[in-house]
Amino acid sequence: MDRITEQKQKAAAEAVKHVRDNFIVGLGSGSTAALAIEALGRRIKTENLCIKSIPSSYQAFQLAVDCGIPITTLEEYPQIDVTIDGADQLTPELFLIKGGGAALAREKIVASASKLNVIIADQNKKAQHLGANNQFVPIEVIPFALTPIKHKLAELGAKPVIREVKGKLGPVITDNGNAVIDAYFGEIVNPTELAVKIKMLPGVAETGFFVNLTDIAYIGTDNGVEKIVSKKK
Ligand code: 5RP
Repeated sequence: MDRITEQKQKAAAEAVKHVRDNFIVGLGSGSTAALAIEALGRRIKTENLCIKSIPSSYQAFQLAVDCGIPITTLEEYPQIDVTIDGADQLTPELFLIKGGGAALAREKIVASASKLNVIIADQNKKAQHLGANNQFVPIEVIPFALTPIKHKLAELGAKPVIREVKGKLGPVITDNGNAVIDAYFGEIVNPTELAVKIKMLPGVAETGFFVNLTDIAYIGTDNGVEKIVSKKK
């Protein structure tokens, strides 16, 4: 296992300790969240743990099925006990950018429905400010509005790039039938303000800014796991 995967694995192992018997668990998306889903599957087998899960993407859904984790819905359980998810970038205040896997809208819906939100990441995801290191902000857009939104994001100071699929020509289509624009802003001074401005643009389904949603982050390091607890929530 490579160094970064080991860091992700350590963070995932800490996060799944928050899951208890009879919990409803939100399942995040991406390679780090996948390690937590696998760890939960192992706990179900070894501890007879009884849980139901709400996956945030097709990827999470499929993996949960493969790992023997029962699935439920927000219709049956509008309140989730704990959600475990990854992040593309996180700051010491636990402001996040998510959506590298284009699952941002469902990830945010699941996070908003959760009593406890736990984020897991490797060390490379840490930054002092969102947008540092050329990190883009994924924005899910209703296809009809793609070009106007591109122009409006440019007016807000971004370099907007429509995300293209690999292995097929054309734009990425999310699990909700929308497109994704990756907006390069550079370092973002006030993510809360910018998130509201973008969300207000007609045609924007969701932004990859996750502000004041996270309770705890576990960041895997070469020597262990760093824990950051939110001061604001
Ligand atoms: C998917 C996400 C992921 O959580 C984020 O992209 C991090 O992925 P990984 O753990 O593979 O680095 O937001 O939409």
